[in-house]
Amino acid sequence: MALTKQEKQSLIDLANTTRQRAYAPYSKYQVGSALRTKTGRIFTGVNVENAAYPHTMCAERVAIFKAVSEGEMEFEVIAVVTDNGGSPCGGCRQVLAEFGLDTIILIADRDGKLLKEMTVKELLPEAFTPEHLKP
Ligand code: THU
Repeated sequence: MALTKQEKQSLIDLANTTRQRAYAPYSKYQVGSALRTKTGRIFTGVNVENAAYPHTMCAERVAIFKAVSEGEMEFEVIAVVTDNGGSPCGGCRQVLAEFGLDTIILIADRDGKLLKEMTVKELLPEAFTPEHLKP
């Protein structure tokens, strides 16, 4: 079922509030996410950086991994909020693709303004998916 404008905005607002808890002392680039599953549960995430830089984890993946660890693997929509409306990195696109190409991605800025809305399929064309590993 299509998301209402209000549903989209409340997910964006939640991602934006959550963003305040980002642990980003190195980049200072705070990212917040809010993922809604097909069952209606919501999982939030923030980026968590590390002094050993490569061990940083993105906000999108934190939300996805929280959901999967709670037994949820079917996602409807994820809101991603940054200062300037940055879009999910390649790694996060790939992790999203694992769980479905039709998941909707809402990209918003610090004011909670929705800048872009697209599916994983649109954001990661020709994705490598679990289908490719089937004999
Ligand atoms: N970051 C995310 O949380 N999600 C993305 O999709 C892109 C990048 C984080 C990682 C790092 O903490 C900071 O943004 C700058 O790269």
